[in-house]
Amino acid sequence: MKRQQIAAGNWKMNKDYKEGRDLAKAIADGMGNSENLAILGVPATHLKAVSGIVKKVANLEVAAQNCHQAESGAYTGEISVGMIKSVGAKYVILGHSERREYFNEGHELLAAKVNTVLEKRLIPIFCCGEPLAIREADTHVAHVKQQLEESLFHLKTKDFRKVVIAYEPIWAIGTGVTASPAQAQDMHKAIRSLIADRYSVAVADETTILYGGSVKPANAKELFGQPDVDGGLVGGASLKAADFLQIIDSF
Ligand code: 13P
Repeated sequence: MKRQQIAAGNWKMNKDYKEGRDLAKAIADGMGNSENLAILGVPATHLKAVSGIVKKVANLEVAAQNCHQAESGAYTGEISVGMIKSVGAKYVILGHSERREYFNEGHELLAAKVNTVLEKRLIPIFCCGEPLAIREADTHVAHVKQQLEESLFHLKTKDFRKVVIAYEPIWAIGTGVTASPAQAQDMHKAIRSLIADRYSVAVADETTILYGGSVKPANAKELFGQPDVDGGLVGGASLKAADFLQIIDSF
């Protein structure tokens, strides 16, 4: 089975409502008949409007950037998966390093969020990746292994098969320093073999693993050309329609 290739944008906390709609419209208009799936990870306030815009385009979907693990209740300021689903988004980005670092999201909490997203039949885009010190100590595979083991590998096969993984080395996020294609390939291959060990080679072969960290039009083709890199999770370069469209066309 051919793996789903995806170019996903993560707008983070950027773009006001009008700017967000304009950006989504420009991407929707420029997508044409692209066969590759593109996903816009937008702020919660934009989910409904952007869902309405992407509905008209095949292969364009919307993601939330976070959710609460509970179905509903007294959690002032939080957003549930049911709410996200009710406005038309199909994906939820979970475990981004910024959520882990600034909002203290740990393995156990992320496992609970993954469960809630899957229970509601949405798709988690689960982020993993190591800080610079871990890369320099050459323990990055063990670091990512623990992230996967503690927040994903409790899943039964049928649920795990729905998950999209995004490997985002923290030292490459927003820094302009991209992992080299070889570094990305090595880690993606390692992740795939961890999945094969836990589940099966067949499951590993069909799991989409995205690379994130300073992906731009100039490097997307080479990164996406690596055998185990199935696309990207793109921050800064997803905020400009022309750049993101070029990235979508980089497979
Ligand atoms: P940049 O593409 O801006 O480095 O951000 C990557 C990222 O964090 C996507 O989730």
